[in-house]
Amino acid sequence: MQAGENGLGPEKLRQLTTQAADAADHAYAPYSKFRVGAALLLQNGAIVTGANVENASYGLTICAERSAVVRAVAEHGPEMRVLACAITNLNQAASPPCGACLQVLCEFMTPTSRIIFRGQSDWEDYRFEEVFPYRFKLNHAL
Ligand code: THU
Repeated sequence: MQAGENGLGPEKLRQLTTQAADAADHAYAPYSKFRVGAALLLQNGAIVTGANVENASYGLTICAERSAVVRAVAEHGPEMRVLACAITNLNQAASPPCGACLQVLCEFMTPTSRIIFRGQSDWEDYRFEEVFPYRFKLNHAL
């Protein structure tokens, strides 16, 4: 994926990845020491960031992507939509989003929204439908 090909433009893309990295500075990760930051670009042009917040129970830990989604709804309301999500970490490791975060993001993303994450050597950029083709939808007869 070339810069600009994702519809964001190189400057917006740079802003988003920089803000994701800055957000990782605020991670609360005393257990894993793996500090993650996420930045969402909303349909209204706003950028909302999040960081992982761990818990002594381990299982109650919230990932950076989900903390950003929760914050975006709180700040912009339930109609907010996510055009792109950038994810990185301060541990020089690859940072693809986990399955739980993809399931949460899919409530607010479209199949062509972007998932942009720090890969092994460079940033990687995918359409949401490429990384999460079989989203769960509640679709049952009432
Ligand atoms: N983590 C995230 O913040 N995002 C992900 O998509 C996967 C994992 C966090 C959770 C935990 O605090 C740490 O990374 C190690 O798993």
